[in-house]
Amino acid sequence: MEKTYSFDLSGKNTFRMKVSCRCFIEYDSIADLIDIDFEDLLRPVKHIGAGSNILFTEDFPGTILHSRIKFIERIKEEGDEVLVSVGAGVVFDDFCAWAAGEGLWGPENLSHIPGEVGASAVQNVGAYGVEAKDIIKTVFCYDTLEEEMTRFEASECGFGYRDSIFKHEGVKDRYIVTHIVFRLSKAPAPKLDYGHIREALGDKELSPAAIRETITAVRRDKLPEVTDLGSAGSFFKNPVVPEDIYNKVKAVVGGDVKVPAYFLEDGLVKIPAAFLIEQCGFKGRRSGNVAVWDKQPLVIVNATGRALPDEVITLENKIRVSVREKFGISLVPEVEHI
Ligand code: EPU
Repeated sequence: MEKTYSFDLSGKNTFRMKVSCRCFIEYDSIADLIDIDFEDLLRPVKHIGAGSNILFTEDFPGTILHSRIKFIERIKEEGDEVLVSVGAGVVFDDFCAWAAGEGLWGPENLSHIPGEVGASAVQNVGAYGVEAKDIIKTVFCYDTLEEEMTRFEASECGFGYRDSIFKHEGVKDRYIVTHIVFRLSKAPAPKLDYGHIREALGDKELSPAAIRETITAVRRDKLPEVTDLGSAGSFFKNPVVPEDIYNKVKAVVGGDVKVPAYFLEDGLVKIPAAFLIEQCGFKGRRSGNVAVWDKQPLVIVNATGRALPDEVITLENKIRVSVREKFGISLVPEVEHI
């Protein structure tokens, strides 16, 4: 376990905001985590993963915790089903690579998403028609209040679109994800219906490795690599609106432009925020040290590496105001502001 005071967080958030925290603790095992005296920590306390969905808005006045619990273990096999236990500190894409290497189906569509395994349950990460909840069986946590290990079956996690109970008041500060049991499969289960995935696969033979390779290439093409350029992936959630608002969007953009939409239950429609932001003229727009990504305007990037939190927030607000004024839709950030 490592404990550092006045810690520079630039290497611990993919947006690369140059902020610090008063205390930073990285632990290597469940035993180490249990050893931490939570009563004694500088407050507030915040647990992070790879920091790939976070905007630090200022120096953090308390303690940041980070897990280095790293293991991937097959724990049970029954028929085609394989249960795999994975430590919260494992890079999520390393788990995807491992599963593809083993010929196991489940996480291949989630390949190349930045972040770590623990956060995948908190955030219910999703891409290309698959969400973490589809493969999560059980989430194991340390309960910092009762000071004991506990577990949540997937049905108890309140999973929704980029949401779970672990993001909600009363729960988020209490439970720390230590490891997750995923349910993978030896039987082919390709999910190819999102966007152009089927097309992008071409005539490749269907395997978890081939799908992983294709998804990785699609993501590399569209999204900035967090290793090259600071960002936190999608900055906003895709809004879900009643059909009359969707009709208003259609009227505003005019008959020639097709408004992309996914029709949900109860007359609700999900409209890609990327489309709305593009329509407001922000695609590729640079403002000081920050910019809206030119291939996917849902992403705000730290264009020079020197961006300050306030510059990101100013651009975020401009986008929100513009989308609200033009379409009457309030975008909600997907990135957590701390
Ligand atoms: N679009 C535009 N202009 C653009 C780009 C996209 O109008 O420049 C429209 C198109 O109609 C496109 C639609 O937006 O069909 C959807 O675009 P995309 O497939 O890139 O997905 P998204 O809805 O913008 C979501 C996730 C991404 C995930 C992709 C792929 C959210 C907030 N974001 O983006 O997740 O990779 O789907 O499944 O749900 C993340 O969470 O950080 C993330 C990158």
